Amino acid sequence: MSAGIDAKKQRAAQAALDYIEDGTVIGVGTGSTVNFFIDALGKYRNHVRAAVSSSNATTARLRAVGVEVLDLNEVDGLGLYIDGADEATRARYLIKGGGGALTGEKIITAAAARFVCIVDDAKVVATLGKFPLPVEVIPMARELVARRLATYGGRPVWREKCITDSGNHILDVHDLTIKDPPALEHELNQITGVVTVGLFAARPADVLLIGTATGTDVV
Ligand code: 5RP
Repeated sequence: MSAGIDAKKQRAAQAALDYIEDGTVIGVGTGSTVNFFIDALGKYRNHVRAAVSSSNATTARLRAVGVEVLDLNEVDGLGLYIDGADEATRARYLIKGGGGALTGEKIITAAAARFVCIVDDAKVVATLGKFPLPVEVIPMARELVARRLATYGGRPVWREKCITDSGNHILDVHDLTIKDPPALEHELNQITGVVTVGLFAARPADVLLIGTATGTDVV
């Protein structure tokens, strides 16, 4: 990955610190952009009470920088969730799950009053779908779900060797042009065997921070 993209991710991650209210518990997502956020949070850790993590990888990283990690069941909802995305539109619809943590990410999104998404500008698109859509499935239903997904015009590919934190499989659906993200998310959620669809549209991000070559755009 180029230093240019890392600098953009870092700018978006740094800008997300401004959304933290002192002394609160925050939700933290997964991925390389979020890793920059966690590094920054480490220096800012006295301002947060604790974090709720979306994945085992993020839990380990948060603890390594000295941030306490709580189970979501131990807190009464969250004021703020910070996470990255694989693709984002200016309507703040997202494709997520490239890092395989989509189920934890969707649960924390549902629990959070505000979802601030941090991306570099290469991830901003007019129409979602160039990035293959991750769909987490119960392992025994993998081929059943793949056949159903193919009826939507996509080409599901099993992400072999990937077992999610919840013990499930992931299908990456290539060649979709997602014209109506909330409708597709709703439909795919009805397929028996689907655990989580990597479309975040029924509940989009509330704020999109886009790291650019010169600063951060706020959408
Ligand atoms: C993980 C995710 C990540 O947010 C997404 O993959 C973006 O990752 P990165 O910041 O490394 O590009 O959804 O499941």
